[in-house]
Amino acid sequence: MMDWTDQHCRYFHRLMTRNAMLYTEMVTAPAVIHGPRERLLGYGGDEHPVALQLGGSDPQELAQAVRLARPYGYDEVNLNVGCPSDRVQSGCFGAVLMERPQLVADCVRAMQAETDVPVTVKCRIGVDDQDPATVLPAFLETVAGAGVSHFIIHARKAWLKGLSPKENREVPPLDYPLVVRMKEEFPELTVCINGGVASLDLARDLLGQGLDGVMIGRAAYHDPASVLIGADALWGDGPGPDAFEVAAVMRPYIADHLAAGRRLHQITRHMLGLFHGRPGARAWRRVLSEGASREGAGLDVFNAALAEVENQILQ
Ligand SMILES: Cc1cc2nc3c(=O)[nH]c(=O)nc-3n(C[C@H](O)[C@H](O)[C@H](O)COP(=O)(O)O)c2cc1C
Repeated sequence: MMDWTDQHCRYFHRLMTRNAMLYTEMVTAPAVIHGPRERLLGYGGDEHPVALQLGGSDPQELAQAVRLARPYGYDEVNLNVGCPSDRVQSGCFGAVLMERPQLVADCVRAMQAETDVPVTVKCRIGVDDQDPATVLPAFLETVAGAGVSHFIIHARKAWLKGLSPKENREVPPLDYPLVVRMKEEFPELTVCINGGVASLDLARDLLGQGLDGVMIGRAAYHDPASVLIGADALWGDGPGPDAFEVAAVMRPYIADHLAAGRRLHQITRHMLGLFHGRPGARAWRRVLSEGASREGAGLDVFNAALAEVENQILQ
């Protein structure tokens, strides 16, 4: 998720679940080719399994981006066919590609030729006035014909005109049954669902309907302890550490980051939801959001925030 799932966020999330696939922010193919590649693609190595999400619609450019990303050792490369970008402002990428399945097929074919790891596609159920029940199976068939066997489907349309990206994550209605039907129609494909899943109970329910996976975005970010700790049970593993243990493991990671001259806020901004819904959650957020972005803020701010939570739990 843009501006959210950077390497610090992923390091933090990985402490809570060993199995869940973590995704990078979308990086456009031209940015990989011409931009600050190390900053865009580099990460600590403790985050596996991790998928690189690319945006683009030029097969040659996407292939080049995949080639350039290969040394970074991502476990999956995902093509974004779900971002509701305005096609004029941002070029042709994201959800607008739902209208161009053949082009998506050309893109993924070119990408696959450059990597041994799975190339997957994240898409919507349709855009604008498309009929999802018709276009989604046709889209899956065409793209699967190019060799993709793993799809993550955001179970709502994107409206490319008139809605902001935020509204496009909330306003178009969710259609889970359609995605479940896609798995029934294409049993050989790995079909994962995304959109509005805010609890592991709902994830479990969707898996029980035959789906192969559930991608959780906002809820995992805003309430990581509820969503990610316990997620490993879906793979039959025991739960991860509790929120305090996670905070304790983050401390040396933060110390290294600060020692390299970087800012506390760059890490703690992803941690504001760690105690969501628990005693002390508000104080934790307040101390971190007020203190961590100050010049020279150090571990004392982090420790003070944690002390607030501990005090409230003891009360
Ligand atoms: C801040 C933010 C940034 C996002 N950036 C991306 C992105 O880079 N690539 C992508 O495929 N989806 C992106 N999304 C959409 C989410 O991946 C997801 O499809 C959407 O939020 C619905 O799932 P959820 O209800 O579990 O959050 C973003 C969402 C948010 C809130």
